[in-house]
Amino acid sequence: MTNDELKQAVAAAAIAHVVEGAIIGVGTGSTTNFFIDELGRAPSRIAGAVASSERTAERLARYGIRIVDLNELTELSVYVDGADEITATLAMIKGGGGALTREKIVAACARKFVCIADESKMVPMLGRFPLPVEVIPMARGHVARELVKLGGQPHAREGFITDNGNVILDVAGLSIDNPARLEAAINNIVGVVTNGLFAIRGADVLLLGTSSGVKSVMRSAT
Ligand code: 5RP
Repeated sequence: MTNDELKQAVAAAAIAHVVEGAIIGVGTGSTTNFFIDELGRAPSRIAGAVASSERTAERLARYGIRIVDLNELTELSVYVDGADEITATLAMIKGGGGALTREKIVAACARKFVCIADESKMVPMLGRFPLPVEVIPMARGHVARELVKLGGQPHAREGFITDNGNVILDVAGLSIDNPARLEAAINNIVGVVTNGLFAIRGADVLLLGTSSGVKSVMRSAT
């Protein structure tokens, strides 16, 4: 199976987690685009969606799905999104598409985070994919120096501005043996908006596309 076929398979499987008539959270990226297309087959299945990026909002709107402001809600039943890397404990690196901050905000408001990913995203340890960090533009130099102290090699993502008007530093070379600790440490650097580690609030369910079918992995209770 091709990667796109695996993405399509997990996107279709995620529909089983969508609560009929609810407002759901929708992530960003090529895997999530397949999920939006699945939603588009029966747009009235949901009452609306909170989008994690302008791109996602545009795609949802094309199907006539109502875009809801997160501030109108207190909670979402489910958030569906992809990942750049994910471990067996369902900690992730996200933000390859640069939407990490809004993704993290929407995920924080969801009772259940369903990650949809093809098997190439499953890793024993996070960090081969450079970690995206969203930064207030005037703090770029300061944050980069602090990231070097943490052992990383930051590179400014060229020609990219986030939906929030900020820049992204992609950080290579980090050894991420404790994702939740590193997530908190990076978020503590002045000028960081947030980073792409999703470990403090990881996924609750992973739908992993493999050549032998979609595997469902639940986060184990800690
Ligand atoms: C965007 C993200 C995406 O979820 C992540 O990059 C995975 O994307 P894709 O499904 O295209 O591989 O975090 O900010």
